[in-house]
Amino acid sequence: MTSDDLASAKPKPPAKPNLLGIFLVFVMTAIVGSIVVYSLSGWGVPARVKNLKNPFLPTPEATQSARAEYAARCQSCHGANGDGRGERAERLSIAPADFRDAHAMGLRTDGELFWIITEGHKPMPAFRGTMNEEQRWNMVEYVRGFASHK
Ligand code: HEC
Repeated sequence: MTSDDLASAKPKPPAKPNLLGIFLVFVMTAIVGSIVVYSLSGWGVPARVKNLKNPFLPTPEATQSARAEYAARCQSCHGANGDGRGERAERLSIAPADFRDAHAMGLRTDGELFWIITEGHKPMPAFRGTMNEEQRWNMVEYVRGFASHK
């Protein structure tokens, strides 16, 4: 090696920070983080729906139709008496709630129950498309009934 070779050998440029790599790590962390938070927060009911009130008057007709809706759409999982032991319950990944548990149901606001019925939560389906707003509110009332007359 001559002194000329040494002079022409350029110093290696300093390693640039890999911005794309840092960005990807950041994005991955954000995605994984939100999944963890979402799964821990259970239903993830947004705060704004908690205080929603039923805008419909409870009438005997409403209860009647909610009873029929319940038998057709909810009973297979939630059970005829709301105990969460419908014939499909055993095969579900998560056990359906026991609506007769007045304490547990008391922790939920009407707005939360409405949101749960509207949005669903795997394995429970969403009922946004199958029941209109009034039917879903009537169902909130109906489901509450299991805890009051045990
Ligand atoms: C395929 C089975 C299935 C069907 C059908 C179903 N559910 Fe559910 N439901 C579940 C499961 C499972 C849970 C518990 C999910 C969880 O805790 O993440 C649940 C939870 C709920 C809860 C929350 C109770 C609480 O406080 O934790 C409400 C309210 C509810 N269901 C109402 C209904 C109504 C009303 C219908 C019919 C319109 C219905 N569900 C239909 C499976 C079902």
